Amino acid sequence: MQSQIKTYCIIGDPVQHSLSPAIQNAAFKSLGLNCTYIAFRVPKGELQESVSSLRSINISGFNVTSPHKIEIIKHVDVLDSTAQKAKAINTIMNVEGVLRGYNTDVYGFIEPLHKRSVSFNGMTILLIGAGGASRAVIAALSEQNGITKILIANRSQKKAEELARIGSSIGLECNVIDLYNIQKVAAKSHLIINATPLGTSNEDSMIDHEHIKKDTIVYDIVYKPVTTNLLENAKYAGAQIVYGYEMLLEQGAKAFEIWTGISAPTDAMKRALFGSFGEPA
Ligand SMILES: NC(=O)c1ccc[n+]([C@@H]2O[C@H](COP(=O)([O-])OP(=O)(O)OC[C@H]3O[C@@H](n4cnc5c(N)ncnc54)[C@H](OP(=O)(O)O)[C@@H]3O)[C@@H](O)[C@H]2O)c1
Repeated sequence: MQSQIKTYCIIGDPVQHSLSPAIQNAAFKSLGLNCTYIAFRVPKGELQESVSSLRSINISGFNVTSPHKIEIIKHVDVLDSTAQKAKAINTIMNVEGVLRGYNTDVYGFIEPLHKRSVSFNGMTILLIGAGGASRAVIAALSEQNGITKILIANRSQKKAEELARIGSSIGLECNVIDLYNIQKVAAKSHLIINATPLGTSNEDSMIDHEHIKKDTIVYDIVYKPVTTNLLENAKYAGAQIVYGYEMLLEQGAKAFEIWTGISAPTDAMKRALFGSFGEPA
């Protein structure tokens, strides 16, 4: 007899662009698990009733994306250490009616840098954005040794200041900079991270190639398109680049492992993204 189907989902708005259903369903299929993963659009202001509905259908687990990663904290029962540190959640597991919140973006963000054996010693880091994903970035960076300082640039100054306070509370030296100075700061940074959606609609980046040094690492967490304008500029400048899809795969693999307790079939997840063509060189 087949086991009862387990249902997982992602909630956010917009959510139709999400690649998580493709990745997670490929993982379930490749291991023959009787599980399914779907996307639900949940607009701002409808989070509470949506979480109640997910509780009442006894959802097995879910991912949370923009704009709910911070607000969702109020609606779960327990926070694991990653979510506590980031003060944001992207993954929830339902353990016999208790919703447990995790932040797999923390691991997902840092793993591609660890795979490249990046040393953070003496680094000045420019972080663009101060939303839910930026909180995971800050939490991940707080666990790396030797960072000199993090400069945060965001449209809303108030949110940048709030993020800088979170960073300082977990041992990082954080300063807020004006968006108008971003190019000047970029030119002096060792690691540049875009954690805004800018680039998703092929918009030009705020940083051109002339303000990126050859020995800088440029990390765009936007994953669609694969090569954003920022990454194109970084390539042109001869800098090292990190793609957003790498974080997407790592955070998804970690969520899969939390939900199932099984090692994630990362090759199947990658194939769901890139088909038989493989990842970009
Ligand atoms: N690769 C991955 O695995 C991964 C994981 C998580 C997120 N992401 C991507 O990262 C991006 C941010 O996600 P999030 O969860 O942090 O979203 P969020 O909580 O909604 O925050 C968005 C941030 O971007 C800023 N922003 C939005 N539109 C902008 C624009 N047109 N120009 C300049 N700044 C803008 C916002 O500034 P204000 O504060 O001024 O509104 C805010 O700081 C999304 O594109 C998401 O898909 C990727």
